[in-house]
Amino acid sequence: MVAGPKKLHIKTFGCQMNVYDSERMAEALGPLGYAPTKHMAEADLVILNTCHIREKAAEKVYSELGRVREMKEMRRQYGLATKVAVAGCVAQAEGAAMIARAAVVDLVVGPQSYHRLPQLLAEMDVAKGGILATDFPAEDKFAHLPERPLTRAQPSAFVTVQEGCDKFCTFCVVPYTRGAEFSRPVAAILAEVARLAEAGSREITLLGQNVNAYHGQGPDGRVWSLAKLLRRLAQVPEIERLRYTTSHPRDMDDELIQLHGDEPKLMPYLHLPFQSGSDRILAAMNRKHTAQAYTGLIGRIRAARPDIALSTDIIVGFPGETDADFEATLRLVREVGFAQAFSFKYSARPGTPAADLPGQVEAAVAGGRLQSLQSLIEESTRAFDAGLVGRSLPVLIERKGRKPGQVTGRSPYQQPVHTDGSDRLIGQIVEVDIVAAGQKSLTGVIKSGFEWREPIQAAV
Ligand code: 5AD
Ligand code: SF4
Repeated sequence: MVAGPKKLHIKTFGCQMNVYDSERMAEALGPLGYAPTKHMAEADLVILNTCHIREKAAEKVYSELGRVREMKEMRRQYGLATKVAVAGCVAQAEGAAMIARAAVVDLVVGPQSYHRLPQLLAEMDVAKGGILATDFPAEDKFAHLPERPLTRAQPSAFVTVQEGCDKFCTFCVVPYTRGAEFSRPVAAILAEVARLAEAGSREITLLGQNVNAYHGQGPDGRVWSLAKLLRRLAQVPEIERLRYTTSHPRDMDDELIQLHGDEPKLMPYLHLPFQSGSDRILAAMNRKHTAQAYTGLIGRIRAARPDIALSTDIIVGFPGETDADFEATLRLVREVGFAQAFSFKYSARPGTPAADLPGQVEAAVAGGRLQSLQSLIEESTRAFDAGLVGRSLPVLIERKGRKPGQVTGRSPYQQPVHTDGSDRLIGQIVEVDIVAAGQKSLTGVIKSGFEWREPIQAAV
């Protein structure tokens, strides 16, 4: 092993917001001489960006830290030092307990403190023990992170516009780990999107734990809604596609529904978790909507955009869930006909109200329910995808395919699409005839006569 320029390895767990945060952390550490590496063994700095949403999250991080410790020891034998940081929601939730339990950890940094990383790294050089940075600082971390670089832009890029949550669903840790709802100012988002557009991104997905609750300060001094922000972003000429995730049914207002009907750049895809089809369980979850309110909302969204692909999150085995409650969930899945759905077995999260509720459902019962639900979801997904076979769809080509001469992109409805084609097409939207639907993707043939345009800058 030879020492070269400093290397950074970030392992990311969990949601797209963590993926975005990892990118921003890497960018913040670039000026300090850290170049990213895929190989942990090469890394002078290892960051685990963790997720706390479900199932023994903290335990998984501790066992990963066991592997990191071995790696650190191996590197030490070669005379190489390794710094180890734990970031993300487990860091926020565990805090000082993590430093006490895992001596390998030099830094525990919560999601609101990533802009302090350069300074924290300097502190690590002189600190005797682990450093803790898990407070919720008053300043906006985004305002203190470096601007997005003008190279390496992905054809499809994420931009976090909102963080935290004030909804307090009784099963969820997010309000505790990510804190209160916060919306970035419109001007900062426009500036970031402009740079991504200049660097070659064609699609922007706006991220937030509760993205449709967005209420950021506009350049006109007023509070802007998500719909108003999206309308403004649709005016950026290079940006051809817009998406947003994740949304709460309660914040799906008429303005946003209307936008799905009249803004062609807004993709016909919506992820809208309903969690349970039983009103009794929804009330215990503090969701503040009923099953009927949800289907009514879906009706209005479909009236605005009939072909929209709907996606959702569902929890089975919430405390007190009976067979009848679970049946109501299955009914709702059948009624809506989702293009995609993510389903989870309820996992008691320490510190959340539901963790102390009576009637915790036996693991085997919850497991059985999850299986039935997942086969129903599979049927629904297959039916949606089969309906696309024979159609011609615009596909944003994002990367090389698995085989030489193949490329992969996404349809407007979000499915990956594999097709034969030159990687010079990366970053372009091409018309593809869909010929087959597989397990989780579509296969197609690029329509003949398609003209190749200038490739976007440095996108591979
Ligand atoms: N147990 C199981 N699933 C959960 N989710 C959030 N908290 C829990 C929990 N304690 C699911 C919800 C949410 C998705 C991101 O994760 O369905 O929408
Ligand atoms: Fe968690 Fe509910 Fe907030 Fe979503 S809306 S982040 S599930 S508390």
